[in-house]
Amino acid sequence: MKILVTGATGLLGSHTAKFLASQGHEVIGVDRKAGDVQGVKLIVGDISDLAFCDSVIQGVDGVVHLGAIPNPTDIRQYEVFKNNTVSTFAVFTAAAQAKVKTVVYASSLSAYGFAYSDQWTSPQYVPVDESHPMIYEESYALSKEVNELSAKMWAKRCDTAFVAMRFPWTNMPDKTLELARRFELEETGKVLDVDPRFPPGIVSKILWTYLDLRDATAAIEVVLESNIKGAHAYNFAAPDTMAKRPTCELMAAFHPTSEVRGDISGHKAPLSSEAFIKTFGYAPRYLINRDEI
Ligand SMILES: NC(=O)c1ccc[n+]([C@@H]2O[C@H](COP(=O)([O-])OP(=O)(O)OC[C@H]3O[C@@H](n4cnc5c(N)ncnc54)[C@H](O)[C@@H]3O)[C@@H](O)[C@H]2O)c1
Repeated sequence: MKILVTGATGLLGSHTAKFLASQGHEVIGVDRKAGDVQGVKLIVGDISDLAFCDSVIQGVDGVVHLGAIPNPTDIRQYEVFKNNTVSTFAVFTAAAQAKVKTVVYASSLSAYGFAYSDQWTSPQYVPVDESHPMIYEESYALSKEVNELSAKMWAKRCDTAFVAMRFPWTNMPDKTLELARRFELEETGKVLDVDPRFPPGIVSKILWTYLDLRDATAAIEVVLESNIKGAHAYNFAAPDTMAKRPTCELMAAFHPTSEVRGDISGHKAPLSSEAFIKTFGYAPRYLINRDEI
């Protein structure tokens, strides 16, 4: 397939572009930040510019849209909202015009609102599935929901399929273990050095969920090669948590108001990826080794 990847010099984008190229696809990467990705032709540009999107999307079979500001770093909420929604709308508009078969794009577990709300926010129920209401209070999460609504609109106007992946913390195992160890130290009351990437409590806010980058990239290819139609959004996370304590105990300690509606025995993630697995037949296979935490 000929595939365009946005955000191609970023974390998810570079791994995805490299993986798709290694699988024999013709891959074009775009990003506003220059870089070098093995096997990938890179074009530097801003995807909030519709003419730029038209020029790079023309003639491709699939689009993987990962270009965005990946967290709510913006105190006034405006930049993240503007960049992430306008660029996504431009990518979708160009994909529809170019009659692209499938657009896969990154949504986020953060869209539900637990991860980045200032107020401690617990799920109404666990395992959290795609029917869980979005109860966010900041513009990163809002931008993710707006993008999913934009996809729904475009799916009514064209034959392109739009698939949102609601990813949790997604990284290579060493980085996930680093975060998991931080949580264990926090649990034992140790004072940790301030790290703006990891605000206190963040691991419990993301419900201890994670995904290995290799599963993210493999799942993206499965979606591109499927015959899915319409607009859909799926959770996609590892089936277990990055914590040592059993999930029931963690939920009771950190999210005691959440109703337990399904199986969270052992170290099962309190987030369901069942809909994705049922639809596409791919389940995460790169799980962390809990003994290494
Ligand atoms: N990494 C995670 O844990 C995670 C979890 C959930 C969702 N996501 C989502 O996945 C996507 C990728 O995240 P990431 O972690 O790789 O972030 P990243 O910051 O590493 O990469 C994003 C890339 O997008 C580019 N970009 C941003 N705005 C652009 C624009 N207007 N035009 C062109 N390029 C632009 C940036 O230059 C950057 O290289 C984002 O949508 C993010 O919200 C990431």
